Amino acid sequence: MTPLLRKWVFETLYKNRYLYRFASTVPFAGQWRVWQRLVLSRLTGHGALELGCRLGDLRADMIAAGYACRAVEHSSQMVAAARDTLQRRKLGEKNWILQGSAQHLPFSDASFDTVVSTFPSEYIYDPNTIAEVERVLRPGGRLIVIEGGNLLPVGFLQPVLVLLQMFVYGPSAVFGPREHRNLNEEVARNQQQERLEDNRLYTNRDTSRGTTTDVLTDAWFGQHIPLEQFGLRRRSERVRSRRWEVYIIIGEKAKEQNSA
Ligand SMILES: C[S@@+](CC[C@H](N)C(=O)[O-])C[C@H]1O[C@@H](n2cnc3c(N)ncnc32)[C@H](O)[C@@H]1O
Repeated sequence: MTPLLRKWVFETLYKNRYLYRFASTVPFAGQWRVWQRLVLSRLTGHGALELGCRLGDLRADMIAAGYACRAVEHSSQMVAAARDTLQRRKLGEKNWILQGSAQHLPFSDASFDTVVSTFPSEYIYDPNTIAEVERVLRPGGRLIVIEGGNLLPVGFLQPVLVLLQMFVYGPSAVFGPREHRNLNEEVARNQQQERLEDNRLYTNRDTSRGTTTDVLTDAWFGQHIPLEQFGLRRRSERVRSRRWEVYIIIGEKAKEQNSA
């Protein structure tokens, strides 16, 4: 699919909340919401801001988990949809979802412990966004970005969905830098909980709850998010289950130095 056609398809899908829900559920075998919720165990402090919340499901999850969570969303239709989600789930204040832009956040400095962005569009690569995120984060706070997720071709349905995603997004989005690698091998390795791969160094391997989290020191994903330019310390995590893998980038703001 050409980039222009893809843009048109997505813009059409994104204008309608029902189409968007369909598009983020069926082609991803219902895993999109599972991937969004990987944010929850990574939140720090109490106050959170979500960028580009679209239907507002994750924001509602964060409020339900006890966080004070605001959101900034660009599309007025989606602000309305996210407010409806809150009302339906009886969670939070409507006016905590603002229409606006991630590049101009209407909050004072050091307002949040965490800023969250799941499956972001181009705004996350804009230095103006990261400058704003750094400004509104408290010292010791963090930006959590779920940059993407891929199904693995296991079982009967997922190979078909992987093919569909390759058609829509192109092979590089599905394989990353591994264009020429055999995905079946990847799946086999995944099932065996493989050892070191491609000379990549993994640390902090956590294998809880049926997933494996690897902290990658030279991750291929998230590289275009300009964290270092604004002094945020990068941490790249790849989370895998037997059915999928998800790419998470965390940008940590330094704690304040004691002035003594
Ligand atoms: C691909 S959707 C992802 C939505 C949601 N986070 C999710 O996980 O399903 C990207 C969202 O970012 C919003 N968006 C795009 N540009 C933005 C900007 N500059 N500031 C804030 N939100 C933006 C879009 O309207 C859309 O709701």
